Amino acid sequence: MEAGRFVRLILTPMRVLEKIGEMREASRACRRNGGRVGLVPTMGALHEGHLSLVRAARAKCDTVAVSIFVNPTQFGPREDFSQYPRTFDRDCELLRGENVDLVFAPAVQEIYPAQPGSAGQQRAAVPAYSTWIEVAALTDRLDGKSRPGHFRGVATVVAKLFHIVEPDVAFFGQKDAAQLLIIRRMVRDLNFPIEVVGCPIVREPDGLAMSSRNAYLSSEERKLALLLNRSLREVEQAFRAGEHRIDALIRIGSDAFSLQPAVRLDYFEIVNPETLEPPAQAERSLVAVAAYVGTTRLIDNLLLEK
Ligand code: PAF
Repeated sequence: MEAGRFVRLILTPMRVLEKIGEMREASRACRRNGGRVGLVPTMGALHEGHLSLVRAARAKCDTVAVSIFVNPTQFGPREDFSQYPRTFDRDCELLRGENVDLVFAPAVQEIYPAQPGSAGQQRAAVPAYSTWIEVAALTDRLDGKSRPGHFRGVATVVAKLFHIVEPDVAFFGQKDAAQLLIIRRMVRDLNFPIEVVGCPIVREPDGLAMSSRNAYLSSEERKLALLLNRSLREVEQAFRAGEHRIDALIRIGSDAFSLQPAVRLDYFEIVNPETLEPPAQAERSLVAVAAYVGTTRLIDNLLLEK
């Protein structure tokens, strides 16, 4: 182990904070000493994808804070909020291994205090909460189209986390490309003094994009889930072979699913990576896919570049 890291582990054990005031104070203490604070927002059930964000934060910042909060307002009424995997002790162990300084793990009531309900409640059950962030034109694209209100919940909770943690830098994965774009736009539009860093998708050796929801898959479904990545690769191959017509590329991607009825395609889209609008040309476009494998909804994407 590198000496600096050893000293840090001895001197600064990871702190787990549940209250907004404590979290803000811990972050401000670091900044008072001239340190840079990095935030990695998560919903827990951590995997290598999250840990790659933590490592990016560790390399760039003096204090690394990770939030673990399964945010009820980004789940639709028929989605998996109550079943979402919660593996808090294991998450903390992994984060300790990455030399994280602060874990912010608030209760639902701490973040949505007007709501008397419990962690089992969903968006419809937070009626007393009334201030929302809508990133117009972006929140109803890709996942936002099939999951109405999802990105409003994401943008709102991330804005709250930014106000609470006051990070200098925040780290998000590219896997949810629309989410990353929405957060960048929100930061720009609302003048958050925060640098947003996007980190590459982390994949299993066979190409499946890492996701906390992969834990829902049976071994049969786990094999079927490879179809998402395979459909993207087929489009990339056709693009490299000279097919640049958007509708033809979309057909190639969607056709991969028509042969496998056990996987239900939600969308297969090619969009401009900055606006999520249909692109004028395939060069520098984002290919994004969402599909249900059994009842598990998975997403993946890749960037087509000449
Ligand atoms: O990507 C996620 O895990 C969540 O959408 C986020 C950014 C932590 C907000 O709840």
